[in-house]
Amino acid sequence: MIITTISELRNYLHNQRLQGKTVGLVPTMGYLHDGHLSLIRAARKENNVVVVSDFVNPTQFGPNEDFATYPRDIERDAKLATDAGADVIFHPSVEEMYPTDSSTIVEVEGNITKVLCGASRPTHFKGVTTVVSMLFNIVQPDKAYFGQKDAQQAAVLMKMINDLHMNIELITCPIVRESDGLAMSSRNTYLSVEERKQAVVLNQALKAGKDAFEKGEKEASKLVKIISNKINEMPLAEIDYVNILDFPSLAPVSKIEKEVLAAVAVKFGKTRLIDNVIFG
Ligand code: PAF
Repeated sequence: MIITTISELRNYLHNQRLQGKTVGLVPTMGYLHDGHLSLIRAARKENNVVVVSDFVNPTQFGPNEDFATYPRDIERDAKLATDAGADVIFHPSVEEMYPTDSSTIVEVEGNITKVLCGASRPTHFKGVTTVVSMLFNIVQPDKAYFGQKDAQQAAVLMKMINDLHMNIELITCPIVRESDGLAMSSRNTYLSVEERKQAVVLNQALKAGKDAFEKGEKEASKLVKIISNKINEMPLAEIDYVNILDFPSLAPVSKIEKEVLAAVAVKFGKTRLIDNVIFG
């Protein structure tokens, strides 16, 4: 069932809660792939009611980014989400979520939103935290599901939940990959045939970094070099960042002594892809 208004969704969820049912939320921007479906399946197992939001959120895109061209197909999404176990697909309009007089933002300040993707996308995370706060307020889920592929997003949202004392359990699910190792992303559809071939290097480079760590290299800067060199073997790859940070604080690390996030963002033509691995 597709619901497009906040009031209709609230009525539906109010009735479900009166029956004592728990609610799981899977926030998405649509154009669902197996990564999203794994979140919906996880939510189906752990909740009585599963809401999937399908909303391309304008405030998390920068002025020269792909908001207008981001792929959209609500009929396809509704079928895939329902088959994976969703009860409701919440698909509001931009006006429903952001009425013209709307002027409130929710922002997590500090290093956590400035490093990695925050450096090249300075307004991105406040768009994410604002829309996710709205979704949390509308749905009031017991649990909310996010993909590990957006590790920084998960870390920022965990911080927001803690700082604002939100009573929501955030669950991160493992990255789902294509058979050659490329992390699933709605943006993979932008890649040309040659770019798609070379894009496997993100996962290969992260694996090379993790292997070197497991063989004894503990200096973050040396591992960053190993990962970068591997990516640079691909002529079409243009590195945005390669970094190793503490997880989930995203504080800098020099010698690896506990769990870290190795994260990369690489451009192929106009398409920017991200991937990561946690080790240590
Ligand atoms: O991860 C995404 O697809 C988006 O950032 C989210 C969490 C749905 C907010 O728009």
